[in-house]
Amino acid sequence: AAALAEALADVAAKLAREVGEVVRARRAEGVAVAQTKSSLTDVVTAADQEAERLLAEGLARLRPQDGILGEEGASSAGSSGITWVIDPIDGTVNYLYGLPAYAVSVAATVSDGAPGTMSDGRRAIAGAVYVPTTGEAFRAWHGGGAYLDGVRLTGPAETELGSTLLATGFGYTAERRTEQVEVLRHVLPRVRDIRRMGSAAIDLCMLAAGRIDAYYERGLQPWDYAAATLIARESGAVVRGLGDAAPGEELLIAGTPRISAELATLIGDAYRSLQ
Ligand code: IPD
Repeated sequence: AAALAEALADVAAKLAREVGEVVRARRAEGVAVAQTKSSLTDVVTAADQEAERLLAEGLARLRPQDGILGEEGASSAGSSGITWVIDPIDGTVNYLYGLPAYAVSVAATVSDGAPGTMSDGRRAIAGAVYVPTTGEAFRAWHGGGAYLDGVRLTGPAETELGSTLLATGFGYTAERRTEQVEVLRHVLPRVRDIRRMGSAAIDLCMLAAGRIDAYYERGLQPWDYAAATLIARESGAVVRGLGDAAPGEELLIAGTPRISAELATLIGDAYRSLQ
């Protein structure tokens, strides 16, 4: 199983880099919004669509028996039990504006009875995140560790909540954002500072690399975090939900054992105070 997971991580890393380089080249040619989804903030560019098609074609070539689930609609069941969960551009708004924090995320997921991180119970066993603007390639496989350009990652260092550099993100609907601001009102005074980098995949990879101390977000989609959650966990970070809940779309909290627990209490209290 470990050899398979490592081989899947190689596939993920190869495709994420290849497609990431196409996405970077397209950016230089200029970008426009092709479509909006849930709100005006939720944008899709032609590069998102092209990159998803290239990822799906690459996977069909290298792993023809596997299923695919993509942010821009790619969907096939497959027969192997492995489903690739892909985000052609995580951080599309940054991409649109020419800001550097965007990434290609590719994860191989299974549903094998172990606690899942997606609402259908699936979890990643291998994954890669490629950041075209820096050329940094993150990869991990279950039980095999997390790596940045081949160097093993060891996650964030233990710290106090008051000296925690905390990343988060906001959803795309006005209602969700109003609620997120209320929660942030409780959290921001307690931490060193907040970062809203605009890509959940990058947030979790920065955590794995120890460049931020913690991260939380509500309302992610599986393709935003599938690969990067595995990368964070394999670096030694805790990725959890509220209370006993598994991390996932509802809430994903990541950090050291201590900080992730303290954040879960703080964020749980903040949500309760909204009701
Ligand atoms: C978004 C980014 C962002 C997060 C949003 C995601 P997209 O993904 O990861 O950081 O706050 O929740 O939807 O739309 O750029 O692929």
